[in-house]
Parts: sequence; C-alpha cells; structure tokens
Amino acid sequence: MALNIKENEELSLHTTFKAGGEVLFFIEAFSKEDLIEAVSFAQKKDLEIVALGGGSNTLFKDGLHNRVVIKVSIPGIEEKEVGENVEIKAGSGVSWDKLVSFSTKKNLWGLENLSSIPGSVGGACVQNIGAYGAELKDTLKEVFVFDLKNKNFTTLQKEECEYGYRESIFKNKKGYLILEATFLLKKNPSPKIEYKDLQKFFLPAGRQVKDLVPQTSEEVREAVISIRAKKFPSLKDYGTAGSYFKNPIVDMATYERLLKEYPDMPAHESEGEMKLSTAWILDKVLNLKGYSEGQISLWKDQPLVVVNDGSKSSEEIILFTEKIKKIVFDKLKINLEEEVIII
Ligand code: EPU
Repeated sequence: MALNIKENEELSLHTTFKAGGEVLFFIEAFSKEDLIEAVSFAQKKDLEIVALGGGSNTLFKDGLHNRVVIKVSIPGIEEKEVGENVEIKAGSGVSWDKLVSFSTKKNLWGLENLSSIPGSVGGACVQNIGAYGAELKDTLKEVFVFDLKNKNFTTLQKEECEYGYRESIFKNKKGYLILEATFLLKKNPSPKIEYKDLQKFFLPAGRQVKDLVPQTSEEVREAVISIRAKKFPSLKDYGTAGSYFKNPIVDMATYERLLKEYPDMPAHESEGEMKLSTAWILDKVLNLKGYSEGQISLWKDQPLVVVNDGSKSSEEIILFTEKIKKIVFDKLKINLEEEVIII
C-alpha cells in the first residue's frame, strides 16, 4: 500500500500533552517496507526525521516543524519458550500496556510492575520506563532497529542500548528507529513488591506476610493499576506526559547539605550518589501540589506530573515548568531536569 504522507499535520493530535505546533510531513509506518520508504522520502527532502511512538513522553514546541515525523506502528506479539523463560517479541507500535496484559494473562513474570504506563513498546525502549522498583532494562533482551546512518536493519543487545535512569542510546543519539523489542520473562513466580506503595497494598497492617504474597503476575498488575489510578490523571480528561521531571541525582555533599535543612527528605542511593524525590520537594518543601497557572498545573495527587487542561500551546507548558525549575533552584540550589523529550 502506498504511504500516506500528511502535510502540515497538527502534532497535538499525536501527543498525550495535546499541545504543540504542526509538522511539515507526518508518516505512519506499519511495516519494514513503509519505514524504508518513509526514511528515503525524508532523506531526499533533506529533512530531519523525528521518530514517534505513542507520543506520551514528547512535547513538541509551537509553530511549524521543518521535519518529518515518522510514527512507527509496527504491530504484532510473538512468544517462544526458552527453558525456564519465555521470550516475547513485540512490534514497537504495540501499546505498552497491551504487552504487559498479554504477559500477565499467561502468568509470566517481569513486566507486571510496569502496568498502566501509557505509550508504545518503542517509546518504552527509548525512555527505559520504570515504576514500582522495576525498569524496562531488567527484562529487555534486544531491540531490532533501522540504523539511519548505515541505512540497514540491525539488532542491538540490551548492553548496547546504554540504558540509565530514563536514558538510552535512542534518547541521546537519535540514529535509530525501533521496530521490535524482545523481552525475557520468567515462568517461575518472581514477585517484586519491595516498593513502598506495593508493600502497603499487599501487606496491610496486622496481616501475615506469607498469606499475602501475590500468587500471579496478574495480581501484581491489578495492584499497580489500582495504585496508579489514585495518583495519576486520566489521559482522556487531561493532557499530560506522566512525570515531567526526573528525580534529581545529587552528590553526597549536596545531599548532606539538604538533609540538615530537611531531615525527613526521602532519598535512595544510586551508584554512590543520592536520588532525591522531586514529588516530595514540590509537595513538602514548596507546597506546590496542585499549583496552577492558566490551564497548566502540577497534579493534585502527584506534583511530579504536569497537567494541561485544554491549552494547545506548548509554550505555556514550557514557561510554567521553567518557573517551577526556578522556584526549586532558588530554594534548594538544585537543578531539575526534564524527563519529557522537548522537540
Ligand atoms: N510524595 C509526596 N507528595 C506527593 C507524592 C509523593 O511527598 O504528592 C513523596 C512520597 O513521600 C514518596 C516520594 O514522593 O515517597 C516518591 O513518590 P512516588 O513513589 O509516587 O514516585 P516518584 O518518585 O514521584 C517515580 C517515577 C514514576 C513512577 C513512580 C512509581 C520518575 C521521574 N517518576 O515517581 O514514573 O510511576 O516512581 O514507581 O522517576 C513517569 O516516568 O512518567 C512516571 C510516572
């Protein structure tokens, strides 16, 4: 089928922030062949390619983008038994949560803590999504990509993807379009419920640990869905990309300076440095939970989440978040970084 190339496409239709300008060309690729055609179209026009998945972690600036957005919508999920494990291969256009649900229906373990996260499998690989003590890189095996520089298809092993906290080779270098990702999941029960919110869910005060350990990955999935439903705004009603900022990672000296002033401040060690909690800082130090300006606000139940209630302008969102960053810096002398990709 011939490619459907849209011109001057409104980007607010393709991101969960529901804001931003237009792009000169917008192409959705459903197959390897589509992808090759879309790439050669962009290269002939000498235009920069921007890959898009579910659009749940991207904020496009206002105005006309002189680029080609390629929305990668490769479908399909396949599974293969490998001894004690099962390999699941998914097209990058598969909805992330559909993949998680597919795995928990078969009682496979490894993805259940990442339930209810919006976006596509491809986007999840770019972002190294994480929640409730699990990260994508814990179960990922390899990623099948198109290399834009060498113009060929290739497989990158997990170790080659340069994964870090919400970081990857795909986020930093932008030289690859992701087509498929393969995950290695366990058949043997391996619940990971150490994260505070999950402990509380499975171990209410006075109950016995042994009675409450989840028996199926579906149980953990349901717990995560119910925890998230209480904290995150619905994507149907609001424009949002989940956590807007990362949790800052600071050196020990900075941590100790802050701890003197805020003895209750939560933090976790991360490779010799300390990861702080942006949500806690915004809430407990700055009292900014629910803070709003115009149609933009910090979500009332989780201030790390920036919410757009109807604005089409990403400028409004950017000005708002720059102001939040300044308030944090003025008070604590630490820099917040965006988790969201701004283009
Ligand atoms: N907190 C407050 N007030 C609040 C909410 C939280 O003080 O209103 C404090 C709590 O004390 C809690 C701490 O902040 O101990 C951390 O909060 P939470 O457990 O909700 O997690 P988070 O660190 O704010 C991260 C991820 C989320 C992920 C959750 C759950 C980042 C940037 N965010 O948030 O990921 O769902 O953990 O694991 O790492 C996303 O990336 O889009 C995302 C939503």
